[in-house]
Amino acid sequence: MKALVLAGGTGSRLRPFTHTGAKQLLPIANKPVLFYALESLASAGIRDVGIVVGAHARDIRELTGDGTGFGLRITYLHQSRPLGLAHAVLIARDFLGDDDFLLYLGDNYLQQGVTDFARLAAAAPAAARLLLTPVADPSAFGVAEVDPEGNVLRLEEKPDSPRSALALIGVYAFSPAVHEAVRAITPSARGELEITHAVQWMIDRGMRVRAETTTRPWRDTGSVEDLLEVNRHVLDGLEGNVEGKVDPHSTLVGRVRVAEGAIVRGSRVVGPVVIGAGAVVSNSSVGPYTSIGEDCLVADSAIEYSVLLPGAQVEGAARIEGSLIGRGAVVRPAPRLPQAHRLVIGDHSKVYLPS
Ligand code: TTP
Repeated sequence: MKALVLAGGTGSRLRPFTHTGAKQLLPIANKPVLFYALESLASAGIRDVGIVVGAHARDIRELTGDGTGFGLRITYLHQSRPLGLAHAVLIARDFLGDDDFLLYLGDNYLQQGVTDFARLAAAAPAAARLLLTPVADPSAFGVAEVDPEGNVLRLEEKPDSPRSALALIGVYAFSPAVHEAVRAITPSARGELEITHAVQWMIDRGMRVRAETTTRPWRDTGSVEDLLEVNRHVLDGLEGNVEGKVDPHSTLVGRVRVAEGAIVRGSRVVGPVVIGAGAVVSNSSVGPYTSIGEDCLVADSAIEYSVLLPGAQVEGAARIEGSLIGRGAVVRPAPRLPQAHRLVIGDHSKVYLPS
C-alpha cells in the first residue's frame, strides 16, 4: 500500500502565513504538522509516499527531504494549481500505479495514527474506505450517510440539513478504481475536482464504499483557532525535559520542555510548554499551552495559549493569548505618547485591539 499526502492548496484561512510558507509546515509543539502525518504513515508500515506540493514546494522538499529520516521513500508531485483533492489524485496517477493507497490531507492531525485504518483497508478491500467521526455541527463538514452494515450510501458537502452527524476526516483508503472516478467528474461550483464527488461517483456505480468511525481526537489545522487547539492537544501529551539553561530565579511548573541551547531566566513557565533551541525567555510568564519556536525572544511579557514561530520576538507585552506570531515577527511597545497603536503588518493579517 502507498500513501498520497496532500501538501499543496491555497490555505486562504491561514493568511498571511500561507503567503510566505506552506501551512503544512506550521509547527505543532515545535514540529511541522506534516511530520506527524509522515510519522504515522511510517508506523503503519507504509514506505512509498507521494507528497503533492504546490506554491511552497521548495520549502517542503528542503525540510522533508527524500524521506530517509522518516523511514520512507518520498516522491514529490507538483500540482500546478490547487484544483481540488481529486485533482491531486489525478496528477498522482503514474506514482500510484495500480496500488491501493491512503490519501492523507497534510494539514490534518490524527492522534490515533493510521495503523488500524491501513490494516483494515488491506484486510478487507473495498473500492474506497472513509474515516468518519461524529460532530456537533455536521453542516460545516463533508457528511456521510451510512447504512447499518457500514456501507456509505451518500456524501454531502456542508449540507444545510445533514442526514447524519458523521463528518469525513482527512484520511481515505482507495483502490485503483478511484482513478476512473477522478477522470470522470467535472469541477464543482467552486472550480475544484472534489474527492467527495469522486467517491459519490463510485457509490452511484455500485462500488463498495465502506465507513469506519472513530471518536478519537482528530483535527484539521486549516485555521488559526484549529491550529492552536491541535497545539494544545499535542502539548497535553508532552513529557517535560530540560536540556537548556534555567536560572535559579525561574520556576517551571508541570511539564515543560526546554531544548538544548534555550535560556530561561527570571521567569515562571507553567506547562505544558515547549521552548525551542536558541530561544530566550526572560523576566516573563509563559504558558500554559504555549510553543516558543527556535531562536525566539520573550522578554518582560506574559503569554499563554499561543504559538511563536522561529525567530519571533515579544517584548514588554503585558498579556498575549490565543495568538499565532510569525517567523521573525516583532511585537514590542511603542513610545507612550501619542496614545495610538502603531502597526506594520502584512496583507491579510489580523490584529485584535482591546476595546
Ligand atoms: P483544504 O484545507 O481543504 O484547502 P486549502 O489548502 O485550499 O485551504 P483554504 O480552504 O483555507 O483555502 O485542503 C486540505 C489539504 O489538501 C491541505 O493540506 C492542502 C491540500 N490540497 C492540495 O494539496 N491540493 C489542492 O488542490 C487542495 C484544494 C488542497
